[in-house]
Amino acid sequence: MDKLDGRGAVVVGGGSGIGRGIALGLAGEGMRVLVADIDAENAGAVRDEIARSGGDARAARVDATDSDSVAKLATAAADDLDRVHVFVNTVGVLTDAAVTTSSEQVWAWFVEFHLMAAVRMVEAFLPLLRAHDDGAHIVLTSSMAGMVALPAEQTGGMNTGVYTVLKHAVVGYGDMLRHDLTPEGIGVSVLCPGAVATSLVSTTARHRPERFGGPMSDPMAGRTLPPGMMPPGMMPIEALGPIVVRGIRANRPYIFTHPEMQDVVRARQQQVLDDFEFSAET
Ligand SMILES: NC(=O)c1ccc[n+]([C@@H]2O[C@H](COP(=O)([O-])OP(=O)(O)OC[C@H]3O[C@@H](n4cnc5c(N)ncnc54)[C@H](O)[C@@H]3O)[C@@H](O)[C@H]2O)c1
Repeated sequence: MDKLDGRGAVVVGGGSGIGRGIALGLAGEGMRVLVADIDAENAGAVRDEIARSGGDARAARVDATDSDSVAKLATAAADDLDRVHVFVNTVGVLTDAAVTTSSEQVWAWFVEFHLMAAVRMVEAFLPLLRAHDDGAHIVLTSSMAGMVALPAEQTGGMNTGVYTVLKHAVVGYGDMLRHDLTPEGIGVSVLCPGAVATSLVSTTARHRPERFGGPMSDPMAGRTLPPGMMPPGMMPIEALGPIVVRGIRANRPYIFTHPEMQDVVRARQQQVLDDFEFSAET
């Protein structure tokens, strides 16, 4: 979808982190952006930030795990933006959760936030994306963890087992959505970032719904870096917007942010090819 200027975009999870970066990026292209988040204050702050730089934005609270709340957001988007051309979801959760030790409740929590929230929102927003023939685009957020499965030694000590399983599911969902929607002129991209400087682990702890155990104490408390410091390899969120804009314009199936991660992806693909060869020999 090449033309963005003057068109409508909804960014869920836009109140902070990667969603904020994407909202700023889309607004920078002249899009009229609805910033939606469970944290209404943060969504409002991003709206104000966009307005201060001359952009066009509005904000709304949404709980992506609640279908009534998502339906209200879709109605508000239709009212405020008239036409919606771009829908972005960045909602997700991250905490130490190994596949061998996680309870069914933890699995259900990750399934809900990574997969079902995306499915629910796409279903709610598809009628708006289909309501015009200007072209439309959906961006789902996976991770490098949707492309490769890394042990804790390669993820800064965190066991990303359950997260990795669900981020692979987001890639599969995005691929199939793309097959289904391409004939209708609706593009789909799956964003697969590497490490980006956000507060995802703290946000995850703060917003865990009661049915999944309620808010947790923040595992990152007392571990914040001095202002202006960022762990090596972390990307600032402001760098995300232009990368995602480029991916939308070119309707790329995947949007990558960290070229240095190519080697681990290549190693995984090579393993698959090697095992084809091995299997053919036996
Ligand atoms: N930060 C990274 O290094 C990284 C890397 C790869 C992928 N990701 C993915 O990027 C996405 C965004 O994460 P982030 O790092 O920007 O973290 P973040 O915590 O800054 O962003 C998540 C946003 O989602 C909102 N949110 C939480 N629960 C919600 C709900 N029920 N309904 C609506 N909004 C809700 C939060 O308030 C927050 O604004 C996640 O899917 C994450 O898995 C992050």
